[in-house]
Amino acid sequence: MTDATTVDLTDLDVFVRNEHHQVLAWLRENDPVYWHPMSGGGFWALTRYDDVLNAYRDHTTFSSSCGAILGGSFRSGTDSAAGKMLVASDLPRQRLLRQQMHPAFSPAMADRIQQQVATLVDKALDNLLTRGGGDLATEIAPELPAGALMTMVDIGHSDALELVSLTRRMIGFRDPALVATDDDERIRLAWIQSEIFEFFAELVRERRARPGDDLVSMLLRAEINGRRLSEEDILYNCMNVAVGGNETSSYTTCAGICALIENPDQYARLLAEPELLGPAMEEILRWTSMNAYVQRVATRDVELGGKRIRAGDSVTLWNVSANRDERQFPWADRFDIARSPNRHLTFGSGIHRCVGAPVGMVELASVFRPLVRRGIRFEFAGPVQRLRSNFILGVTSMPVRVVG
Ligand code: HEM
Repeated sequence: MTDATTVDLTDLDVFVRNEHHQVLAWLRENDPVYWHPMSGGGFWALTRYDDVLNAYRDHTTFSSSCGAILGGSFRSGTDSAAGKMLVASDLPRQRLLRQQMHPAFSPAMADRIQQQVATLVDKALDNLLTRGGGDLATEIAPELPAGALMTMVDIGHSDALELVSLTRRMIGFRDPALVATDDDERIRLAWIQSEIFEFFAELVRERRARPGDDLVSMLLRAEINGRRLSEEDILYNCMNVAVGGNETSSYTTCAGICALIENPDQYARLLAEPELLGPAMEEILRWTSMNAYVQRVATRDVELGGKRIRAGDSVTLWNVSANRDERQFPWADRFDIARSPNRHLTFGSGIHRCVGAPVGMVELASVFRPLVRRGIRFEFAGPVQRLRSNFILGVTSMPVRVVG
């Protein structure tokens, strides 16, 4: 039973147990603009669809300059990423930076990524099918971002997997299954971040000497107001793309297959009606809402839902709650692969809406298309382990068996 005294969106166990939906449903009904106390401060939690959408759209009142993660060390108020990393920038710089990064997300690049990811996934899937099953989270999912990185950043398979493992540890820095958690977590996070920087710094050195058409070379050529980006800016934005893309689509794929297994009628319908693949992937995105929330900071005092948000307050926009809001989605707690319309907020909205969304869709399709085409049916072969995070709702282990 949830009530005001039991709401704790910073309790990671709640997310590991997949019980956050109850807490968020209670907030949506009882306190949709909720002041969430937290040691050393607190934050507002917006949980209704309309409030979340409006906050995304009002980027003047709700600034991104403190980064998307609550209290994340490298994105905190005094954060060195502020105004450098795309996701932690406001206009006008955000627009100028995004324009420079756009070619890395062009339809031509997405086509190349699709070919690369499909090749890797087909191979990993064949391998798993031959053995009658395996762990989707560790054997298939990492190949999605690996394929995308090989193409976008122009690196080899083993380097791409190494980078995926680094970003996985960065996002999962509080999960003992991914990192040793016996030291100070800020130091741990800073350490992993420096390893990612070092990875890209090496590439920057290489691409300065031999430029290509990859993301790093693009950022090396980029100019904002007639000035080249600093090396620090380049590293932060490489990290933004890697962290933004590596965990989200691969975890969504696992969580999406979980949803299909848990809803066998929908799984059977998808296999029988392959033309539903498009809406099914949208429903998987809504249902899994991989990026649970994003943070903003109020730039002025503002009234919302009868509450007074003060300039400087941290405000969190809960995508995972907005996506289950009955006011927007009839039968919101029903996983319906034919849902239409389905205006989920899984990719955010407004000026920061996920620039990698087309890449993410290509990655998801590379798994769900062969699944449907080949009529592959999985069942659980062991417990599903969820990531210890309230920011990314990942699946770190998912043993399955092939049925039939
Ligand atoms: C299912 C997959 C994905 C999900 C759920 C997702 C989610 C999101 C969300 C919610 C935002 C908005 C952040 C905000 O408003 O503060 C965002 C932004 C972003 N995403 Fe994704 N993302 C996905 C895939 C990707 C991929 C594949 C890439 C890169 C290859 C990527 C790179 C980025 C970047 C660079 C931004 C910052 C955009 C900006 O600030 O203008 N994402 N993503």
